[in-house]
Amino acid sequence: MDRGAVYPYFLTPSCPWEGVFLYSQRKGVSKLPNLLTMNNLENDKIMNLLKRAEQFEKGEKASLEGAVVNLFFEPSTRTKMSFEMAEHRLGLSVLPFETAFSSILKGETLYDTVKTMEAIGVKAVIIRHEEEEYYQQLAGCKVAVINGGDGSGQHPTQSLLDLYTIHQEFGRIDGIHVTIVGDIAHSRVAKSNAAALKQLGAKVSFVCPEEWSGDYDTTDDLDALIGETDVVMMLRVQHERHAVSALFSKERYHIKFGLTEARERKMKKDAIIMHPAPINRGVEIADSLVECQRSRIFKQMENGVFVRMAVLEYAMKGRE
Ligand code: CP
Repeated sequence: MDRGAVYPYFLTPSCPWEGVFLYSQRKGVSKLPNLLTMNNLENDKIMNLLKRAEQFEKGEKASLEGAVVNLFFEPSTRTKMSFEMAEHRLGLSVLPFETAFSSILKGETLYDTVKTMEAIGVKAVIIRHEEEEYYQQLAGCKVAVINGGDGSGQHPTQSLLDLYTIHQEFGRIDGIHVTIVGDIAHSRVAKSNAAALKQLGAKVSFVCPEEWSGDYDTTDDLDALIGETDVVMMLRVQHERHAVSALFSKERYHIKFGLTEARERKMKKDAIIMHPAPINRGVEIADSLVECQRSRIFKQMENGVFVRMAVLEYAMKGRE
């Protein structure tokens, strides 16, 4: 079967959920809302989602009907569990799915798995998959698709919760200097955030070993930027995505690119530390800084639930 291509575009202004989602369209098939990538997501659409997340954080309730399933083909603690928490708070039925006990092991394709969910009445699937742009295989599926991370591609809900956390801290994103440090080339968090932050007016700097620069203009001099940045966003070293053995020992990496206590002391008075987690303690960041006064790492996780409630609500209501 020809899976066709996914053609992202935005809703027309007449729709209340205008532009919040990328839509996939396949010839002869109705327009379907999905959140697949942060690329080209317009500023007002991002801000609408952040505002809704804030309402949820302030205690506003919402109730949705239907069943959802979290299809995670790569390990996850935060994304999977915070989607589950968001789903429960919205009153959704959450169907359990474990790759190890699914027919994926019998060779069933992702497309057929998602079509099966659709056939049994699932309204939305949240997918994490090791393949970049796996969602290209899903053209023609009617169920809402929310990307929980595609290989080294995108992680849109992580980006939204990061934007929410920065906005919550500074009251704006425009003019904020964010320095993203670490495994840029392999990081879907860096890629999702880079474009969205710049689009919203932030200044974004990248620090990493030259080998991990990817398509970005980077420096390897963290010390030159540490005193002039508002947000130090550390990334996990993604050993599982490296084709060759590590460039650095953990100790050498920490000294050259890690957030050490000495570097933390040079940060601006009100600057904050972020990290999507999971954390390699003592590698990207000193163990003692993970829960320090500047750290927003666990606040990011808390915010993830509100942001994912907003995303689920818009995805599912946008289909009604
Ligand atoms: N930040 C993040 O995506 O964490 P998990 O891999 O645990 O979901």
